[in-house]
Amino acid sequence: MSAPPSWPYPRWIAHRGAGRLAPENTLAAFKLGHAWGYRMFECDVRLSADGQAFLLHDDTLERTTDGEGDALARNWAELAGLDAGGWHSPRYAGARLPTLDEVLDFCVRHDCALNLELKPAPGDARRTGDTVAARIVRRMGGLPPLLLSSFDVEALEAAAEAAPALPRALLLECFAAGWLETVRRLGCVAVVGEQSAWTPDTAVAVASAGLRRLAYTVNDDAQAARLLALGLDGLITDRVDHFRP
Ligand code: G3P
Ligand code: MG
Repeated sequence: MSAPPSWPYPRWIAHRGAGRLAPENTLAAFKLGHAWGYRMFECDVRLSADGQAFLLHDDTLERTTDGEGDALARNWAELAGLDAGGWHSPRYAGARLPTLDEVLDFCVRHDCALNLELKPAPGDARRTGDTVAARIVRRMGGLPPLLLSSFDVEALEAAAEAAPALPRALLLECFAAGWLETVRRLGCVAVVGEQSAWTPDTAVAVASAGLRRLAYTVNDDAQAARLLALGLDGLITDRVDHFRP
């Protein structure tokens, strides 16, 4: 068994910035998670047409903003004016889509770690991985402890080329044949598996490969107890008001 990589991250991680009690992937959600004691956040990062890295889960704007259509079809100047909070509740009306830089600033200022999920629009994987990683490497003003993750192998490949030293993790819905070869090829330090994909066998297989193990999205007590008993390193949750980090 190889030694696991060093791990500067807390075990509990707020999902989509803590995006259930506040609008997902907004700074309001990060603030709320921080107020509940969370010191690490997962969030979804993608690019505008003109290459601004910003947070948004969906390819389209309808569900979590007052905009319409594909986010990738818009320049940042248009996206920056959208309301990304009113869909959630009136008190968050007017919340904006944050840029990657704003989120990095928040995490540096509040001493929090960050799991950036590369969430490229279809056909935009390479540009997303490359642009996000390059922006992080060139950034002035400090960085929080970072973990880049993605379901998208091409996005992780591009990130690895642009910033080989940034820690990477492969997101898996299930452990399909060839997962370990992919993780090795991408130089990942961790696997982030859908919570039900973690069994005693998969937990041992991943640890034996010298990799860290995280689960998403862990929202009930029985799931959490099971995963903690398996020895997982990170649990990503929506329920920041329920699980004490
Ligand atoms: O990064 C873990 C989790 O966020 C993946 O699923 O759809 O919530 O981005 P999703
Ligand atoms: Mg995500």
